[in-house]
Amino acid sequence: MEKEIVMSGIRPTGYLHLGNYFGAVRNYVRMQEAYSCFFMVADLHSLTTHPDTRELKTNVQRVLAENIACGLDPEKATLYCQSHVFETSELYLYLNMLAYKGELEKTVTFKEKVRQHPENVNAGLLTYPVLQTADIILHRASYVPVGKDQEQHLEMARNFANRFNHRYGDVFPEPKAFNFGEELVKVPSLDGTGKMSKSENQNATLYLNDSDDQIRNKLKKAKTDSGPTEPGTPKPDYIENLFSLMSLVSDESTVQHFETAYNDCTIRYGDMKKQLGEDMVKFISPIREKAEVIQHDQAYLKQIMEMGAEKARKSARETMQIVREVMGLNYF
Ligand code: TYM
Repeated sequence: MEKEIVMSGIRPTGYLHLGNYFGAVRNYVRMQEAYSCFFMVADLHSLTTHPDTRELKTNVQRVLAENIACGLDPEKATLYCQSHVFETSELYLYLNMLAYKGELEKTVTFKEKVRQHPENVNAGLLTYPVLQTADIILHRASYVPVGKDQEQHLEMARNFANRFNHRYGDVFPEPKAFNFGEELVKVPSLDGTGKMSKSENQNATLYLNDSDDQIRNKLKKAKTDSGPTEPGTPKPDYIENLFSLMSLVSDESTVQHFETAYNDCTIRYGDMKKQLGEDMVKFISPIREKAEVIQHDQAYLKQIMEMGAEKARKSARETMQIVREVMGLNYF
């Protein structure tokens, strides 16, 4: 039986963090055996907010290295760079004619970016979800492992794919956001004010590149309070966050120990954060060390990128041939 197709991407706009890991990369690694996977570094998307390309090569290489350090095997999954597959831009163009200004302007991420950078509201930013749709349906993917923040983009991808199918013919499956049947993940920031992010809120985000001391210090400074005084007190958001982080990286018995202490009001957040700091160091440091080694191996990274580009282009060429045909663009 043919394997089902999976596609996802990460922008090279900064170091990967725990949100990227638990929202996306962990699932990439889990899916690479059973599915036919295409994972890419979204360098074209990064140009919508980061037009300066001087650091781009290093950043692209770092995302690749971090993906591999997390357990992605470039022999099993197709790991490539978005700009190496020119067909993406062609499909993006066709899909742009099926995307309406009104719906694009309503996208939450677009409105956020307009607020953050009113001086750079470019057309690429407006059509960001169209390019993302092109990435996904270029491989006729059915599943897209992403974090909660990408839910709306995936809904738009389904709309654009369906619109194409209705107008020109049934070419694309409906792509679905994927997390093994569970709710999509959102890893919150340590100060309880939003989510972990590559470029904002850096002191409240744990990066896969953080040193052991940075990890310990960030967790030490995570927001807490004086603790519950009555059993059965619901956890405030920022405390719930610490427990969620702990459940991601600590043993079940450790989590249970602090849950019990919370419930009987004996919890000492200092101790909890110290324990979480140690467990986080154990989780992040092997990834950081592996990524550093890979990142310095330029020959290996070049070989990975070439191999990935070749496999991704093959899949893209097959789709685009069908697309041009159903659109009636095959004049000779
Ligand atoms: P990006 O680069 O912002 O994030 C990459 C992946 O990490 C997830 N993520 C999170 N998950 C949980 N908690 C968080 N705090 C958190 N922060 C980030 C994101 O949901 C994402 O899965 N538009 C995409 C890149 C992209 C793409 C695609 C994704 C381009 N083309 C095609 C899927 C398919 C983005 O900006 O991801």
